[in-house]
Amino acid sequence: MAKRKRRPLVRSASVHPGIVGPARPVPRHIARPPYVRNAGGEPGPARMSPVRSPTEIEAMRRAGAAAAEILLIAGQQVAPGVTTDAIDEVVHAEVLARGAYPSPLGYRTFPKSVCTSVNEVICHGIPDSRPLVAGDIVNIDVTVYLDGVHGDTSAMFCAGEVDAESRRLVSGTLRALQAAIAVVAPGVPVSEIGRAIEGVARPGGLGVVREFVGHGVGTDFHGNLQIPHYHDPRNATPLAEGMTFTIEPMLTLGSPQVELWSDGWTAVTADRSRTAQFEHTLVVTADGVEILTVTADGRCAHDLSAAPVPRARAG
Ligand code: MF3
Ligand code: CO
Ligand code: CO
Repeated sequence: MAKRKRRPLVRSASVHPGIVGPARPVPRHIARPPYVRNAGGEPGPARMSPVRSPTEIEAMRRAGAAAAEILLIAGQQVAPGVTTDAIDEVVHAEVLARGAYPSPLGYRTFPKSVCTSVNEVICHGIPDSRPLVAGDIVNIDVTVYLDGVHGDTSAMFCAGEVDAESRRLVSGTLRALQAAIAVVAPGVPVSEIGRAIEGVARPGGLGVVREFVGHGVGTDFHGNLQIPHYHDPRNATPLAEGMTFTIEPMLTLGSPQVELWSDGWTAVTADRSRTAQFEHTLVVTADGVEILTVTADGRCAHDLSAAPVPRARAG
């Protein structure tokens, strides 16, 4: 074998489809997003403008806070032996308890109330009967529909002790999201977001997934605005005050090439290397950005996997 300079990949290839239980019921009094009534859960063409009214932004603060609270609770469930379906059960109950609708449920053909993406699963994992194993990393992606708008946020959680490469992946992905949020302001081209993400990923030797992008979010779950996580210098669209969208970088230890399971949803790395994602819903303000997916007192699940502060070096 040729000498390889690369670090060995964590190629657990541990995730196989389990049994997906029935959709969980939603009481009649909970307001549903429009796509739930359409055949196949098809949202149809996005109609929303990229800019929200002050009233809509107020509603998005409430939806965002609810999503952030639920993500914190969901993350506390993560432990070896717990199935992703048990996480779905908790998320579903917490969403309903806040008078909200779990946006994934019945979106297109998605059958459950939250996305759970383990190890080599990049995104859109369907909660099922597979118990988490010590050493797994899992993304939980919570979206709620409340007061006519969506709040969309995700974070990584570790089941038991996790290897050093996976921890490096998780902290690098969080730092990439934070670097991207830091460049958001009126007049900044959308391409600066991907540039900031690559600025963290590339020196860390981490891949950036290109097939899935951040998106306009508000009255629509997925608006027309696209936020690539890679640097596309042609994307000069300027950000403007009142725009609401997600940034949700997916970084990989190996190749960022994507494959899809036959369920039509579960996206995995083609080389089965591990991958991580963090997501926030944001609004562009007059002089910068406000993160909408935080609790009323400013907490979020990202704080739990906060990047280790680099130690000051002598010299
Ligand atoms: N929450 C995901 C996102 O960040 C979308 C999930 S769509 C679903 O855009 F149908 F898979 F739930
Ligand atoms: Co999203
Ligand atoms: Co999401």
